[in-house]
Amino acid sequence: MRLSVRLNLSLVAGVTLVSVGIALYQTQSETSALRRDLERHAALLAESLEKSAAPLMAPVSPAPLQVLVNAFQNRQRLAGVAIYNEQAQPIAASSGLAARLEEPPRAYLHSRFFRSRGQLMHVYALPVVVNGAPAGTLALFHDAAYIEARQRALWKNALTGLAMQAALIICLTLLILQWSLRRPLRRLTQWLGEVRRGSAGATPELPPEDSFGPLSREVAQLATTLHAARAAAQEEARLRDAGESQWTAERLRAFVESRAGHCRIFAISNREPYEHIRNNGEVKCSIPASGLVTALEPILRSTDGTWIAQGTGSADRETVDARDHIRVPPDSPQYTLRRVWLTEEEEHGFYLGFANEGLWPLCHIAHTRPLFRAQDWEQYQAVNRRFADVFLEEAAGETNPLVLVQDYHFALVPRMIKEARPDARVAIFWHIPWPNPEAFGICPWQRELLDGLLGADLIGFHIQSHCNNFLETVDRALESRIDRERFAVTRHGHLSAVRPFPISVTFPCGDPPAAAVEDRLALFRNLGVDAAMLGVGVDRVDYTKGIPERFRAIEMFFEKFPSYRGQFTFVQIGAPSRTHIRRYHDLLEEVEQEAARINGRFEAGAWRPIVFLPRHHSHREILPYYRAADLCMVTSLHDGMNLVAKEFVASRADEQGALILSRFAGASHELVDALVVNPYDTGELAEAIHRALAMPPEEKRARMARMRAYLREHNIYRWAGTLIHELISLRLDRPEDRPAPARLLARAG
Ligand code: G6P
Repeated sequence: MRLSVRLNLSLVAGVTLVSVGIALYQTQSETSALRRDLERHAALLAESLEKSAAPLMAPVSPAPLQVLVNAFQNRQRLAGVAIYNEQAQPIAASSGLAARLEEPPRAYLHSRFFRSRGQLMHVYALPVVVNGAPAGTLALFHDAAYIEARQRALWKNALTGLAMQAALIICLTLLILQWSLRRPLRRLTQWLGEVRRGSAGATPELPPEDSFGPLSREVAQLATTLHAARAAAQEEARLRDAGESQWTAERLRAFVESRAGHCRIFAISNREPYEHIRNNGEVKCSIPASGLVTALEPILRSTDGTWIAQGTGSADRETVDARDHIRVPPDSPQYTLRRVWLTEEEEHGFYLGFANEGLWPLCHIAHTRPLFRAQDWEQYQAVNRRFADVFLEEAAGETNPLVLVQDYHFALVPRMIKEARPDARVAIFWHIPWPNPEAFGICPWQRELLDGLLGADLIGFHIQSHCNNFLETVDRALESRIDRERFAVTRHGHLSAVRPFPISVTFPCGDPPAAAVEDRLALFRNLGVDAAMLGVGVDRVDYTKGIPERFRAIEMFFEKFPSYRGQFTFVQIGAPSRTHIRRYHDLLEEVEQEAARINGRFEAGAWRPIVFLPRHHSHREILPYYRAADLCMVTSLHDGMNLVAKEFVASRADEQGALILSRFAGASHELVDALVVNPYDTGELAEAIHRALAMPPEEKRARMARMRAYLREHNIYRWAGTLIHELISLRLDRPEDRPAPARLLARAG
């Protein structure tokens, strides 16, 4: 049976049942009330008649009694009156009564309803008492047909109401089915057909109805996966056809599968890739602001590895299983995240203290003094030990696990792992710069840190000069043998290779863009700003990023080139970061004040020179800014690589937009077509803004096309592929047989 028929039948049956029940109850109660009223009325009338009749009963005076009964005859609904003597024989009866009754009126007892000549009637009998002794009976007959008429009317109303309700229900059900079920399902089916034929976009518009939520999500996920698989297959085919050696997610997966075989891949970092936060009773999942997540996620996704990281979200504990595991990404799980919990004290000493007040300023030459406290160092060691132990637990039973330790938070972990698991292949990637030996030498525990790092088989930096600085530092601080030809250090018989691996981003970035100019106007409208040209900066609010320097250059730009006032607005997306550290807390205020000061100088009407958006934005939210911007500014005072610069280029499929890039960011070694600047030189920076805005579209296109061609080749999959290739190629048993870096890189493609 059709769904609509089934629905209608059940609804109508339900409503009929309820309506009939209600009508039955109503008729019954109304009939009883009418009957009671009639009885009460008859009793009152009988009592008054009895008073008049009693004097005429002893002795019986038939003629006056007849006059009396005739006098009562015309009362409303009264069919007649009869009076009987003590022997129950009628003495007087109103005229016409006999005609209403099937039998002649006889003596009655008390009150009852009866049917006569097909009509409902009521009789009420009352004894006539004379001098305290019964002298006869009088009976009042009422016409009760009106009660039945009322009953019939009630049923008629109920049935008419029922018919109307049924019609309404049928119409509404059909309409609801049409709007809420058929239409969305038709749209869904249509869209699925398009997906199958390959003509639908990657992110579908699906029915918003609540009940469709889970189905919509699943179907959308399926479509996205299908879309991605189709795109990957097309890309692979295109590359094969063109004979190109570009790295893709698919190629990385195949590469790892064939080279690493059954070796499982582990990543260890402090920052987790997915954080669950409870907000207004609802658990939301977000991706923290960190280039590290952008870089590592594709490797883990394509190899179904395990990522060990600190659980920092307020709802992190409630989302993991008993082993502190959770499969991620949440909407399409592809690898395991193992969360590690730190106490407040550990977080303070390890993360805020040693890592971010000590090592971070130590490695970034940005003129913020590093702070080294003995208690922070204690916590740093303890937390490194904890993470190493978690890895050992996770990797128990795995042969030759591959472990990619991340960043300055875990300098001691490689040695700790290697001592317990000599069969593990351990790489550490240092995402921040490595300063010269003099600068690093101020750390009181530099020897311990270096020794911890040298437990790794492979130590990676972004650029060659960081590798050089590292070797110099080791040379000055530790007993070891340095092989400059192989770029390796041997300490206590263990060899660590040191290599540059310039980290990168996925390419291309996101779905094909919409029209940039329209997007730009929409962005300005949302921000409540009236401007025509857009500049963008995307950073964690960190003193190494040169945000105040950038703002001061914008100020100078408007001083030097006043014709751009009212035309150009710079949007700074700034994710607040490490705000428990005073320097960061103060910086956030400083950036806000600088923006307000400069706006105060120049703003006019609905135009402002700077819009500062101090909150974390997801990649999806940032993308429209990248794509709509006339220029992007990366003005780091010192930066290992800076992935914002690369993301901006990767997102410009239109080959427009200019990149202003600090020469102190690692990315400037690769993106040579950017406008490379010294962020400390405000004048140079202001000129660069002008140059970017005035640059002819052909020049922008040529520069952007070259940078994109470079990134297409040197994308994140290549980074991961070369790093893993190098790690797998190391001879753990005979380190002296390891090939020199040039040969290795050539082999990795
Ligand atoms: C830099 C570091 C990362 C770190 C990120 C965000 O990119 O190299 O290791 O995750 O900053 O900083 P946070 O302290 O928030 O993790």
